[in-house]
Amino acid sequence: MNANIACLPGDGIGPEVVDAAKVVLDAVGDAFGHQFILQNYPIGGGAIDLYGNALPDFTLEACLDADAVLLGAVGGPKWDSPDALVRPEQGLLAIRKGLNLFANLRPVKPHAKLLSASPLKSEKLIGVDLIFVRELTSGIYFGTPKERRNINGEEMAVDTMSYTTGEIQRVSRLAFELARQRRKKVTSIDKANVLESSRLWRKVVSQVGSEYPDVALEHILVDAAAMYLLSKPASFDVLVTENMFGDILTDEASVLTGSMGNLPSASIGDGLNKFGKPRGLYEPIHGSAPDIAGKGVANPIGTVLSAALMLRYSFGLENEALLIEKAVSQAIEQGALTADLGGNYTTSAMIQAILQQFSESISAYE
Ligand code: NAD
Ligand code: IPM
Ligand code: MN
Repeated sequence: MNANIACLPGDGIGPEVVDAAKVVLDAVGDAFGHQFILQNYPIGGGAIDLYGNALPDFTLEACLDADAVLLGAVGGPKWDSPDALVRPEQGLLAIRKGLNLFANLRPVKPHAKLLSASPLKSEKLIGVDLIFVRELTSGIYFGTPKERRNINGEEMAVDTMSYTTGEIQRVSRLAFELARQRRKKVTSIDKANVLESSRLWRKVVSQVGSEYPDVALEHILVDAAAMYLLSKPASFDVLVTENMFGDILTDEASVLTGSMGNLPSASIGDGLNKFGKPRGLYEPIHGSAPDIAGKGVANPIGTVLSAALMLRYSFGLENEALLIEKAVSQAIEQGALTADLGGNYTTSAMIQAILQQFSESISAYE
């Protein structure tokens, strides 16, 4: 296979974790005779510094032409002024919108060896295997008006949470399809007791759900969902929710695995690549971690597992994806842990441990 991957390392630890994932992709390519052609493009704060724009046109065009996109993280204190006219995060929102990536999949499955790395009691974590389907191109992130105003000499700001029926249908259909391949349960999370957009959300998800009688559907209010994620996380299978609720709840859920650094994500929409598969964007759920950037200690697992999701969803390479996931799992099993997980492995030592497990699997395979 010959695949073009646009790489957007971004800011902070972004380049560190993307480099780590590239090494793993190279190893997969070598072992299976695939050609993964990775080309870097600017996004985020670095792109603002160079081009005054968090998503230069040529970066978006390269992503539209690529078979998949691998992204690190954007943002940092340098660009964080509340009055800044351009922000790194705008680049991330623009690439998601520009590729029409309306669904962001964030799987959460604690590793048996990491149960003690989570602040939750281990017995709560047994059997946790859930996946968020976060709506990614609408809601309060994109609704208009979104602006500052001057009202009677006072500054005021407004954001708008809006959803159309079509936007809710497409993301919830994806959630039900996913549930069909799993434990056949969808939990829809909203704030229908307060928000009009959530009442439409609930109505449309129920309508779509009626097309999937084999899948159980439950609706939970977002505040209670935040609590149940800690009190009974094993009860969830597929969780579907609007953009901002999904952002917040997935950071919370990442703690079930011991660290936010562990969580991968896949963003997909209706764009297809030359393989007839989704032209997805793959990124860890964490940010640019300015507090540890440049120290070589970032946990690369979220990005490496994102690369595995890329192989699975965008290239149809299930076997290769499974081998990466197995190598990560076995490296953890052997005690390879970065500082966020209570260990002392550097990013590169962690990658070496993953590569070691990968090559052992390949030798056994041959
Ligand atoms: P963050 O995710 O960058 O960091 C939160 C905490 O988790 C920090 O203590 C950090 O050191 C730790 N952490 C995160 N990833 C880690 C990893 N791989 N290994 C070890 N520890 C890790 O969130 P933040 O501090 O709220 O935000 C920092 C910047 O990142 C902000 O500018 C924010 O906008 C941006 N951000 C970007 C993305 C993205 O690009 N997808 C996501 C979230 C935040
Ligand atoms: C994420 C991040 C982004 C989001 C920010 C950086 C725009 O937090 O990918 O989870 O809110 O979607
Ligand atoms: Mn987030």
